[in-house]
Formats: sequence, structure tokens, C-alpha cells
Amino acid sequence: MECAGSGAAEKIRRRRRLVACAVAVLVAVCVVVAVAVPLSLRRDTRTFKDTFVARCEGFKGYDCEKIWGVFEQAYVGRDPCDVPVGAYGPLLVAVPFPPACNRMMFWSKTKDVVHDFTEKRDCFVTVEDTLLGSVLDGQTWCGKEGSSETFTTDCPGWTQCENNTVRSFWTGASAAFAEAACGDATVMLNGTLATPFSSSSVFASIEVPRFRSPKVKSLKVVLVTQKNSATNCGNESLKDLQKQLDRGITYDCTEVPEAQILDCSSHPEKPCGACW
Ligand SMILES: *[C@@H]1O[C@H](CO)[C@@H](O)[C@H](O)[C@H]1NC(C)=O
Ligand SMILES: *[C@@H]1O[C@H](CO)[C@@H](O)[C@H](O)[C@H]1NC(C)=O
Ligand SMILES: *[C@@H]1O[C@H](CO)[C@@H](O)[C@H](O)[C@H]1NC(C)=O
Repeated sequence: MECAGSGAAEKIRRRRRLVACAVAVLVAVCVVVAVAVPLSLRRDTRTFKDTFVARCEGFKGYDCEKIWGVFEQAYVGRDPCDVPVGAYGPLLVAVPFPPACNRMMFWSKTKDVVHDFTEKRDCFVTVEDTLLGSVLDGQTWCGKEGSSETFTTDCPGWTQCENNTVRSFWTGASAAFAEAACGDATVMLNGTLATPFSSSSVFASIEVPRFRSPKVKSLKVVLVTQKNSATNCGNESLKDLQKQLDRGITYDCTEVPEAQILDCSSHPEKPCGACW
């Protein structure tokens, strides 16, 4: 035991040691915060822009730095809940969707299967396979009033406010992609859901109303099923879809087991037309 029956001098020494220790801890914490926080913030934004530009450069013949600049203009310095769809207008004009007649693929609640398929097979194109769709797929971004930076954390979620940075982009991009549709369009819907065609989906609310006859000739529904799927092509919600189509656009629906689509994805030698 240290200095039993310690006097006042020992007490003061102990207090000094405590104070010194507290100061040392504080300094250490401050140094860590000062170094780590700005670094991680800088790293985040750099990664987002780097990802954007790197994915963009996978498409030949585009000025990706310029596209980044036009993109940023849509949201930088703005309240992230006050970015209307129109803010992305210049971006959608600068990088229009090339029409891919008969090859355009839409989807709702089948994201993983549809992208596994379009990535492995060169038959169909989803909006996420296009330049703008692919640079922003899976990303979160927003600006802040009074700042010229891009943030990737603390951005409002999809349903938090109507005009949020991310949702407005996808609304605008989906609308422009659907407007570019021509010939036979295809949509993959989810047969394990009670309502495969849901009026609140982007497909129902944004894309379907933009399919115009005679530019779009037909819509083919691929209803992806599993062993105990809830729905089939006779479901009432699909009848609604058929009714909502512009007159002159023909409609058909095929139930296709998910396993068959996965099998087709992994056999690129099979002709695309034979997948369903
Ligand atoms: C979202 O933006 C649109 C178009 O600018 C506007 O009409 C609408 O009122 C906005 N919605 C909200 C909730 O602010
Ligand atoms: C359909 O939806 C269910 C439930 O959300 C999901 O588990 C399943 O993976 C989806 N099917 C496809 C083909 O994406
Ligand atoms: C079919 O569609 C209707 C109306 O859109 C929906 O309410 C119903 O639950 C759906 N599913 C089945 C399995 O009947």
C-alpha cells in the first residue's frame, strides 16, 4: 500500500497526477478526432466521385468529369429534401438514354434476379445498365445548404420527404428511360407477392404512363415465380396493368420459374429468346 496515513502533500500530488492524466487523455482524444474525422469525411466524398467517374469511364465516348459537373449542379448547396425531379433535367439532357428497341427491360421487386440476368446476358437493358443508372445504382448522396460538398451519410431516405436528392434522380431517370422505350418492352414482376403490379411502384406510377403507342408495340410481363408463389398471370393487379396501357399496346404475361431465369443467366450460349 502506498503512503498509509498520507498527508496533505501526498493528496495534492495525487490530484496533480489525476489532472495530468485527464489532460493527456483529452489531448489524445482531440488529436484522434482532429485527424480521423476530416480524413473519413474526405475519404467518403472522394470514394463517391471516384466510383461515379470510374463506372462512367466504363462507357466509351463520354466526358465523365463534365457529366459529374452537370450531376453535381442538381443538388449541391441545396436542402436535400428540396431537390425536385426537374433539377436533374440538364443531366438527363446531357446524357440521354439511347433507345434500345425491343431490348428494354423494366422491373419491380425483382431487382437481384433481373440484374443477374441483364449483366450476364447481352439481350436486355435495364435503367441500371445505362451510364446514368449504373453510376448511381446503390448509391446515396446529397448536398447541404451553404456547402459545396457532396455527402453520402445523413441523407434523407426514400420516403422521408418527397423531393429528396436520390428519389428525384430515380424518378426522373425512370421517366426518361420509359419515354425512350420502343418496340417490344419487357417487365419482370414478382410472382411471390400477392400484388405483383402495385400502383405505388415506380413501374406503375412513373413508367407505365409513359409507354406510348405506336412507338411501343407490346409489353411482355415475365412473372417470376417460385414453388409456392402467391400469384399467377390471372391476378387482378395484372388486369389493372393491362387496362392502364396506352391503347394499341398489346399485352401478354408468362409465368417463369426463378430457377429457369437463373439457369438461362448462367448459359450465355442459349439464345435470349428461349429464356421464357
Ligand atoms: C416537390 O416538387 C414539386 C415540383 O417542384 C412540387 O410541386 C411539390 O410541391 C414538391 N413537394 C413537396 C412535398 O415539397
Ligand atoms: C420477390 O419478393 C420476395 C419478397 O420480397 C423476395 O424474397 C424475392 O427474392 C423476390 N423475387 C425476385 C425474383 O426478386
Ligand atoms: C391479386 O390482385 C388483387 C388486386 O389487385 C389483390 O388484392 C390480390 O390479393 C392479388 N393476389 C391474389 C393471390 O389473389
